[in-house]
Amino acid sequence: MAADAQHRRSPCIHPSILNADFANLAREISRISTADAVHVDVMDNHFVPNLTLGLPVVESIRKTTDLPLDIHLMIEDPDIWAPQYAELGCESVTFHAEAAKAPVRLARELHAQQAQAAMALKPATGIEPYLDMLGELDMLLMMTVEPGFGGQAFLDLVLPKIRRARRAVDDLGGQIAIQVDGGINAETILRAADAGADTFVAGSAVYSAEDPDAAIADLRALLAR
Ligand code: DX5
Ligand code: ZN
Repeated sequence: MAADAQHRRSPCIHPSILNADFANLAREISRISTADAVHVDVMDNHFVPNLTLGLPVVESIRKTTDLPLDIHLMIEDPDIWAPQYAELGCESVTFHAEAAKAPVRLARELHAQQAQAAMALKPATGIEPYLDMLGELDMLLMMTVEPGFGGQAFLDLVLPKIRRARRAVDDLGGQIAIQVDGGINAETILRAADAGADTFVAGSAVYSAEDPDAAIADLRALLAR
């Protein structure tokens, strides 16, 4: 762990339902009852090649679970769409820095709707242009794969950026969560944690397990060591 770990938030596991059975989402979400939040990947076939689900399905998911919803928007025009997920009662809405036209205004709009505001960076997007606006965010999502698909291999090249993000967040008092998403599993999670991540999205590692709640417990146990 980094030397400044005293500021660190306790680790959170947010399973991604991208690898769940989309015909049985309510049942699939009941299999992750010990999760800290449900990570919902919204893809529009424009910002990323893949297409998943949108507002009507998230509205139905909202009714099936009391777990917090962590919405990851991999879409164009998040300035228009993100506030509508907040209006549905989603606890956290993440937009991509590469897609947002006015990230500061968007973060403030999400807060005005009582949602947490988060911003995601693709692996090749630097954090430096965004350092001055970090204080507008509740969470920073560092993609550890190119967004679009589950089951890809973790990109170690993102680790130095996570370390830089951790230093910047600690300078601000350490309250902003640093989330990692992509290729997180029992083999990679400690590398991300050591670099400074505290919130871990895991899709295939949780939903390819026979017992998703047991897979969550295994990841927590690794982080507690
Ligand atoms: C990928 C999504 C991820 C995905 C992670 O673009 O944002 O949330 O579900 O899946 P794994 O954990 O399998 O890489
Ligand atoms: Zn995601």
